Amino acid sequence: MSVLVTGGTGYIGSHTCVDFIEKGKEVIILDNLSNSKEEVVGFIEQITGIRPKFYNIDLLDREGVKRVFDENDIDTVIHFAGLKAVGESVAKPIEYYHNNITGTLNLIFEMRDHDCFKLVFSSSATVYGKPETVPIKEDFPLSTTNPYGTTKLYIERILTDLCVADDRFSVVLLRYFNPIGAHDSALIGDNPNGIPNNLMPYVTRVAKGTLPHLNVFGNDYDTCDGTGVRDFIHVLDLAAGHYAALKALEKSGVSIYNLGTGNGYSVLQLIDAFERVNNIKIPYQITDRRPGDIAECYADASKAERELGWKAVHTLDEMCASAWKFESSIK
Ligand code: NAD
Ligand code: UFG
Repeated sequence: MSVLVTGGTGYIGSHTCVDFIEKGKEVIILDNLSNSKEEVVGFIEQITGIRPKFYNIDLLDREGVKRVFDENDIDTVIHFAGLKAVGESVAKPIEYYHNNITGTLNLIFEMRDHDCFKLVFSSSATVYGKPETVPIKEDFPLSTTNPYGTTKLYIERILTDLCVADDRFSVVLLRYFNPIGAHDSALIGDNPNGIPNNLMPYVTRVAKGTLPHLNVFGNDYDTCDGTGVRDFIHVLDLAAGHYAALKALEKSGVSIYNLGTGNGYSVLQLIDAFERVNNIKIPYQITDRRPGDIAECYADASKAERELGWKAVHTLDEMCASAWKFESSIK
């Protein structure tokens, strides 16, 4: 039996493929390469010694998705594929709803038609909106502030309704906090197209000299130093969280887990750590707050530890070192 990884050539998907292959799983990747490159399949092979089967297929192409299920014996799907840029989702809501929601509907139709009932879905801490307190627990109220977040929340509801209607399904909703860092080989990592929206890829490009300085979005939040606080989690820990989540697929219905470290670090603390670990100065300017940002967001990750036996183990220093090693290796 194989595991289908949608979005498997992307940032988190590629690290998860490596983790699964190293733990003995047979992995099949489906990706339309809208935000990744096919060479990643070769990098996964270089790291693990095994080349996963790869389909360049769009989830919106239902016939294509059907073919993947027809040609393989898939019993579990890890579903990463989706568009994820918050700002772009405000400008292109229809594209985001269509890609993320229709893509997921096509996937679950084909899963059902092929007797495949186990699904792990990439959700996000964005579904907690503006939380009233931190750390955030899985049962906190849900809301969203942009179409990207709304696609995550709607998909969570669709998958929950599916499990109510059909008890053959088991679904795990993983709410990620802020993944950063890269594989030790520096072959795979976070390499967004254009100017990065997220903090770490922006920092690494400033370190490389591709961008002149970092803009720190506000230093007047009610936090330790006034800058935003986030739960940065090493992508290797996040990948391992997917493997741990397979345990929760043994029972039917929906299970929900936060995947974070449980620790918050501010933007300035992250810059400090990056400078110290890599011995590189990151010039920055304080600018206005970014619309939609919240002061503090970090997880209570104790449910995943209690029920899945999973806990993030990598430090912020390791995240900063591996992120820079990856960026500096990109030609
Ligand atoms: P990514 O863009 O690197 O990977 C997503 C992959 O999905 C890409 O390779 C892209 O080509 C593919 N894809 C997109 N639409 C597709 C479609 N219609 N058909 C087939 N393939 C398609 O992003 P990532 O950072 O690896 O994120 C993976 C998942 O985790 C996404 O669903 C994202 O929303 C979610 N997530 C990411 C973060 C983060 O900070 N990176 C945080 C929370 C949740
Ligand atoms: N920041 C800067 N300058 C930048 C980029 C970011 O100061 O150039 C700050 C932000 O203001 C925020 C922190 O760095 O305080 C983290 O910002 P990111 O854009 O890296 O991450 P977010 O927490 O805003 O959001 C990310 C993903 C979302 C996901 C969420 C989950 O972009 O899709 O994590 O927690 F939902």
